[in-house]
Amino acid sequence: MNNLLVHANHATPIHLVSEQNLASWTKEQPSHVQCLVEQPRLNSQTVLLIPAEKEQALESVVLVVKDIDDFWALGNLAKQLPKGVYQLAEQTANIESHAIAYLLGAYQFSAYKSLPSIEAKLAIGDEALLNKVKATVDAIFLARDLVNTPAADMMPQHLAETMQELASKFDGQFSEIIGDELLEHNYPTIHMVGRASDNKPRLLELNWGDANHPKITLVGKGVCFDSGGLDLKPASGMRNMKKDMGGAAHVIALAQMIMATNLPVKLRVLVPAVENAVSKNAFRPGDVIKTRKGITVEIDNTDAEGRLVLCDALDEAQSESPDLLIDFATLTGACRIALGTELPGFFSTDQAIANELVAIGNTNADPIWQLPLFDQYKELFKSDVADMANCGSSPFGGAITAALYLKEFVEPSKTPWLHFDVMAWNLRALPGRPVGGEALGLRTVFSYLEQRYS
Ligand code: BES
Ligand code: ZN
Ligand code: ZN
Repeated sequence: MNNLLVHANHATPIHLVSEQNLASWTKEQPSHVQCLVEQPRLNSQTVLLIPAEKEQALESVVLVVKDIDDFWALGNLAKQLPKGVYQLAEQTANIESHAIAYLLGAYQFSAYKSLPSIEAKLAIGDEALLNKVKATVDAIFLARDLVNTPAADMMPQHLAETMQELASKFDGQFSEIIGDELLEHNYPTIHMVGRASDNKPRLLELNWGDANHPKITLVGKGVCFDSGGLDLKPASGMRNMKKDMGGAAHVIALAQMIMATNLPVKLRVLVPAVENAVSKNAFRPGDVIKTRKGITVEIDNTDAEGRLVLCDALDEAQSESPDLLIDFATLTGACRIALGTELPGFFSTDQAIANELVAIGNTNADPIWQLPLFDQYKELFKSDVADMANCGSSPFGGAITAALYLKEFVEPSKTPWLHFDVMAWNLRALPGRPVGGEALGLRTVFSYLEQRYS
C-alpha cells in the first residue's frame, strides 16, 4: 500500500530542471553543484544526487526532464532514489500532479512475491494538498491491487469484503444479495451468468452520504473471471481475464476517492459480481432470459456476459433516477481494437458532459475518447425468438453495439448516462504506470464530479 507519503515540511529537495533551462540553472548553483551538473552529458530523465558538503547525506536531487509540465515527469523517480525523505523544491509548479506521478511510480504488487522495497518517501507540508494526493493515489493503488489479485482470491465474496470494509471505514452502508436470492429479488441475468460457479453470484451495494445531496450512481462490471462460459475463450484470450472485474475496481476506487474527499454527493455503488464459469448448469447459447426490466434476451454468445450482468444492475440503478449514472466495464475487446489499450473509450447520452470530460482528460494526462451511440447498429443484435440478442453476429463496431445494448436499460431523458469501456491493464510499463492492473479515466471522472458538485 501507499506508505511513501509523509506529512513534513523539511526533506531533501528535488529540483526539476528542463533540458532547455539546464545551462542557465547550473550557472546559478554553488560550485560543488555546478561541477556535478556540468561533467556528464545530461539528458532527459537523468537523476543527479548532490551530496551535502559536510555530512554524509544528500543535499538535493536534480532531475533533468524534457518538459517540466509533463504530468509523468517524476513517474520513474521513486525507484531510482536511495532511502530517504524527499520533497519537491519550493518553487516547483504543479506539485500535485508531480507528487501523484511520483507515488504512482512507486506502486508494487508484492502480495505473492517479495520485491526490493522502494524507500524514497515523499513529504508534503500543505495538509490539504497532501490529502488530495493521498486520496488519488490510494484510490488508484486500490484499483490496481484489486485487478492484480488472482481470480482465486478475488471472487465475488472478496469484492464484497472490500466494499464492506470501505463502507464501514467511511460510515456508509453495505448490503448484498447472494446466489438464489438474486432470483427472489428479480436479478435473473446476474444469477444466470454466475450460477455455474462455486463462488455464488452477488449484487453488491454501497450507499454513502447525505440524502439531500445530488445522487450519483456508479455501476461496475464485476466478472471475477471470464472463461467465456460455454463459448470458451481460447487460451490467449483467457490468460488475463482475472482483470474482468476491472470495472468494479474502477467504481470501488472512485467511491473511495469520493468518500475520502467528502464530496457532497449521495453515492450509490452497484457491483454485479460473478464468475463466468463452465459447468453442467452453465447458461447456453440459444437460451432466452427475461431481464429485470422485462426485455427478453437471446444468448447469442456466453462470452458477451458483461452486458448481461450490467443490464439488470443498470435497470435497478435507473429506477431511482439519479442525477448522474456512470458505469465502468472491461466490456469489449473491440474497444481495444478501436483505440488500443491505453486510451479508454466512453459513451455519453449528454454531449455537454462528454465535452467537459474530454477536456479535463486532456489537461490532466488521463485522456479518454468518446465513441458514438450510433443507433443504426441496434439492428445488429436483433433476435428471431426474443426482443433482442446479447450480441450481433458481426464483430464490427463491437464496442458500439455493446454500449447500445446497455443503453436499452437506461433512460437518458431522466438521467444522463456515461459508459466507460476500459482495459484496466497496462500491457507495457510507462512512467508511473507499471505493467498490470490499472485505473484509466478515474482521475478525469473524479475531477469532473469535483468541479460539478463541490
Ligand atoms: N471481458 C471481455 C472483453 C475484453 C476482452 C475486455 C479483452 C478487455 C480485453 C468480454 O466479456 C468479452 O468477452 N467480450 C466479447 C464480446 C463478443 C463475444 C460479442 C469480445 O469482446 O470479444
Ligand atoms: Zn466475455
Ligand atoms: Zn467479460
